[in-house]
Amino acid sequence: MSGSNLLFILSGSIACYKACEAISRLVQRGHRVRTVATEAALHFVGSASLEGLTGTPVATDLFAAGGALDHITLARWADLTIVCPATAHTLNRAAAGLGDDLVGALLLAHDWKKPLLFAPAMNPAMWSHPATVASVERLRGWGARFVPVGSGRTACGEVGEGRLAEPVQLVAMIEAALARPARRLRVLVTGGGTVEPVDGVRVLANTSTGATATQLAAHFTRCGHDVTLLRAHSACAREAGGREETFGTFAELDTALTRLLGGETFDAVVHAAAVSDFAVDAILVDGGVQPPGNAKLDSDAVPQLRLRRNPKLLDTLRTRSRNPALCVVAFKLTRSATAAEAQAAVATLFARSGADLVVHNDLAARTSVGGAFPADIWHRGGRVVTPCADRTALAEALEKLLTGDPPVAGN
Ligand SMILES: Cc1cc2nc3c(=O)[nH]c(=O)nc-3n(C[C@H](O)[C@H](O)[C@H](O)COP(=O)(O)O)c2cc1C
Repeated sequence: MSGSNLLFILSGSIACYKACEAISRLVQRGHRVRTVATEAALHFVGSASLEGLTGTPVATDLFAAGGALDHITLARWADLTIVCPATAHTLNRAAAGLGDDLVGALLLAHDWKKPLLFAPAMNPAMWSHPATVASVERLRGWGARFVPVGSGRTACGEVGEGRLAEPVQLVAMIEAALARPARRLRVLVTGGGTVEPVDGVRVLANTSTGATATQLAAHFTRCGHDVTLLRAHSACAREAGGREETFGTFAELDTALTRLLGGETFDAVVHAAAVSDFAVDAILVDGGVQPPGNAKLDSDAVPQLRLRRNPKLLDTLRTRSRNPALCVVAFKLTRSATAAEAQAAVATLFARSGADLVVHNDLAARTSVGGAFPADIWHRGGRVVTPCADRTALAEALEKLLTGDPPVAGN
């Protein structure tokens, strides 16, 4: 990627040191970075550090001699603006539209045709405070994007959500936001396998790793789309950051899908999750019947599991969606199927689910986890449009199909 003009706004958080590392990486990657710091930020990082990293002086004062128009010129110069770290105070001020300092005036003068990112960093209580929650919602509504916060132990010693993302994630999110796809999509990707409780410690699971979903989500993000990855707790996390939620059981996935699809407007859902067809209905042991999920069954007893069928989540995705034009991408895995059997399986899935595209692959053709993953993408008419050799090719082909730039048809 050729270098871009990046306006990096720092506010007063202990996490300013991480922002310095992100700035250093961005400069090394060929970007031109200009920094603006609040007065509080300069308690955490020296202006000499910021000037040394970027080669340009840090701007702080709205009324600085010779810089009185910085709040307009810097906003126009930037291809992308990021507030990082974004304190609770700066987020709340930005959402209120206050312009009595350089940061506030710059954000008011922001050109919304260009990306504006916030990378929050704060104590968990500040992050979940209603004022902050409402401000995030408001800023999102205006078109700002948020780098997801991390969870764990924060600098103040409390545990929860609110940590600044790692520098490598910040760089990835910034470069993804600079990418300009033909059409910017909001995509929900599901991946990994559900687990169904037997007793309090045992589960029925499947062997899905979530690798396909993770790679698809990473590729769509790199292409500049707004991606939410809904993955199994055990599935691989996305390396380059981005919004993620996790699920365990079928019921948790079901609830998350209803909330996400009903609450936000997605253009497409890529449903790669391996959803259990069955849940444990009851456990028959020692002549009695127990509900699933309780305590721990005695290891000496040999229980019988009574299963019940889970409903097909795929079939209801569009009806749950706020967007009736949601594009649904389904996955069909067959086992040593002939071409005719594969075609029949895909046709059945189209007929049942109303999917727009089906990705078909066969277990016998996979070499190993992370290895070859030959897949075909089918249109509703049943015609194979793309033979893909591996997950990378699949991700590229799906992205082109979803953005309306179809790859060359094959057979
Ligand atoms: C040691 C220390 C660490 C702080 N870390 C944070 C933080 O991570 N996030 C935050 O929202 N506020 C933090 N604060 C409070 C802010 O610095 C304070 O609200 C300040 O007014 C923010 O101003 P600004 O948003 O204009 O930079 C911290 C304060 C201190 C003294």
